[in-house]
Amino acid sequence: MHSTNSAYKRFDKINGNFKGKDIVSLDQFSQKDIKILFDEVPKMREIALNARPSKIIEGKIVVLLFYEPSSRTFGSFSTAVKQIGGQTVEILNPQDFSSIVKGETFEDTIRVFEAYSDAIILRHPQVGSASKAAQIAKLVPVINAGDGVGEHPTQTLLDLYTIYEKFGRLDNLTVLFAGDMLNGRTVHSLIKGLALYPKNTLYLLSLPSLKLSRKEYSNFLNLGIKLVELESVNDIPKNADVWYWTRIQKERFKSIKDYEKTSNKFVVNQEFLDTYASKNTILMHPLPRVGEITPKVDDDPRAVYLKSQIRNGTYVRMALLTKVLE
Ligand code: NCD
Repeated sequence: MHSTNSAYKRFDKINGNFKGKDIVSLDQFSQKDIKILFDEVPKMREIALNARPSKIIEGKIVVLLFYEPSSRTFGSFSTAVKQIGGQTVEILNPQDFSSIVKGETFEDTIRVFEAYSDAIILRHPQVGSASKAAQIAKLVPVINAGDGVGEHPTQTLLDLYTIYEKFGRLDNLTVLFAGDMLNGRTVHSLIKGLALYPKNTLYLLSLPSLKLSRKEYSNFLNLGIKLVELESVNDIPKNADVWYWTRIQKERFKSIKDYEKTSNKFVVNQEFLDTYASKNTILMHPLPRVGEITPKVDDDPRAVYLKSQIRNGTYVRMALLTKVLE
């Protein structure tokens, strides 16, 4: 496996100024940067909910270059650009439909789309691809919309916002992650995000084979965050503020057989939620879910994955694009 840390090290810290910056990793953010972004979100929500015409990035063109499947990240970025007055060029599966089929390199593809746009939003199966694209595209910012098993920083920004909206703070939280710690890029970025705030304790529930790689585990510990790995539901802390459930990342396995060996062991149904969560726990999931939360749970007030978590995706991405492109 890789180390997410080394793939992102060289990127500029935001340091209070988003303008023109590549957004590649949570490593670039401080508490202050996240606060700057969150302060913009209510305004963005107003624009989106009240169909207020907005010209914040009028005249700007944003390329969505997605080499991997996506519903929410693609849909909410596309919506976000339009809500603030920009336009999109949307390239899905370029490996099947663009000149890449003819043998064009990643470098050339990025340089071509750089020439057409004011920003590139990239999803790609390789760890470090967003960093690489950001080094190639010198004239426009690149935003990482998921680089393989690496990171997914904009998902983390919306996840943090969803937690902040509910609890009014991002410190002193108990968070239970479950599912695929090894391959889940949303998990990797969110651990880094929560490590920016004091006194958070993260419990990581997974099969032994889906624990964080030892390298990543120690990299995260070095950030000063408290991590407790669990293998049994009996060890779930009773007082968790947040549950962050994830799917097992099928596409990252060498063979279907290896994937099938992992089977869905930690399934949240109503009884499970009532037994192990508290009254105030919120249940999050980056989606898609593939059986690890039963649909009956959707109506429980604690379940936010199809509610605020989804909507915040658009508002937070609007805020980020505003800050990067203003
Ligand atoms: C996630 C992803 O692509 O990493 N989805 C998303 O962006 N909301 C999670 C997943 O695919 O499991």
